[in-house]
Amino acid sequence: MPSSCPNQPTPIFAPRNCRVLAVSDLTPQEKLFRLQLEDGSELNHQPGQFVQVSIPGLTEAPISLASAPSRNGYFELGVRRAGSLTGAMHRLRPGDRLGIRGPFGRPFQIEALRGNNLLLLAGGCGLAPLRSLIEYCRDHAEQFGSIAVLYGARSPQDLLFKDDLQQWQRSDCFSCRYTVDRHPADSCYDGETGLLSQLLPELKIDPAAARAVVVGPPPMYRPVIAALRDKGLRSEQIMLSLERNMRCGIGKCGHCSIEHLYCCSDGPIFWLHEIEELRGAL
Ligand SMILES: Cc1cc2nc3c(=O)[nH]c(=O)nc-3n(C[C@H](O)[C@H](O)[C@H](O)COP(=O)(O)OP(=O)(O)OC[C@H]3O[C@@H](n4cnc5c(N)ncnc54)[C@H](O)[C@@H]3O)c2cc1C
Ligand code: FES
Repeated sequence: MPSSCPNQPTPIFAPRNCRVLAVSDLTPQEKLFRLQLEDGSELNHQPGQFVQVSIPGLTEAPISLASAPSRNGYFELGVRRAGSLTGAMHRLRPGDRLGIRGPFGRPFQIEALRGNNLLLLAGGCGLAPLRSLIEYCRDHAEQFGSIAVLYGARSPQDLLFKDDLQQWQRSDCFSCRYTVDRHPADSCYDGETGLLSQLLPELKIDPAAARAVVVGPPPMYRPVIAALRDKGLRSEQIMLSLERNMRCGIGKCGHCSIEHLYCCSDGPIFWLHEIEELRGAL
């Protein structure tokens, strides 16, 4: 893999070498990778952006940045083992190398969130990209009103970032609740049970001053959006992340199109009003 020269702009088609600093298990299917660019530069991403990850001999895969940009010296990716590339990533150890292109994509519109009360909602693997925004908000809490983090997973063993969830629950910066769809009767889980959308009705929200950010699997969007609308939020106040199969990651190949939009460069973060009328978007 070619390495980038610090005196030249980052080439968008050539991967940059990264070193794996640490690998930890999040769940049996998901690992967290702490990475560093080998040329010593910072990635300089914004929350909501993604990188195209490559390992020689395999295709690339888009993976969202899971860490806040303010973590100098490293960045993190939370990766579910899905197929060939992510399977090979799960075999990496500290000291191993991989390639990345990016960061790419339209990030969360933080400017539009400032001064508002935030509802940050994640389902399943969606907590990985949302974590970069949650950590950003924790680092800059004075820029926002109240912040509520709500997370739903299928079962207790599918809960991602358990240590972070506990830290966020103890934090003065925001409230944090999580729930699982179901849990075995003999499990020691003593948290909440039910769908993510069921946490919303009891939240006290001033809709005029609220902005919601939603990241999760496609089936989650309709019930969560319906619950947000019941709270009085309009499409212009709801931001969400869409995933599509990708190739180039930079708006050139058309692989990720949603009608006239490219998920990789017009998104992956969209306002709901920008995509709700597009066929197949949700
Ligand atoms: C913007 C964006 C951000 C993403 N962020 C993350 C992340 O933070 N963590 C993470 O684990 N995954 C993330 N994904 C999904 C990840 O890119 C896919 O799981 C990955 O491409 C699988 O690659 P593979 O070579 O391991 O699997 P493959 O062998 O290519 O495929 C395995 C299976 O995954 C399906 N698949 C391939 N691409 C996608 C996709 N984009 N969405 C859903 N299913 C797909 C294939 O159809 C196939 O069924 C993201 C996807 C996008 C578009
Ligand atoms: S992945 Fe090529 S245009 Fe989006």
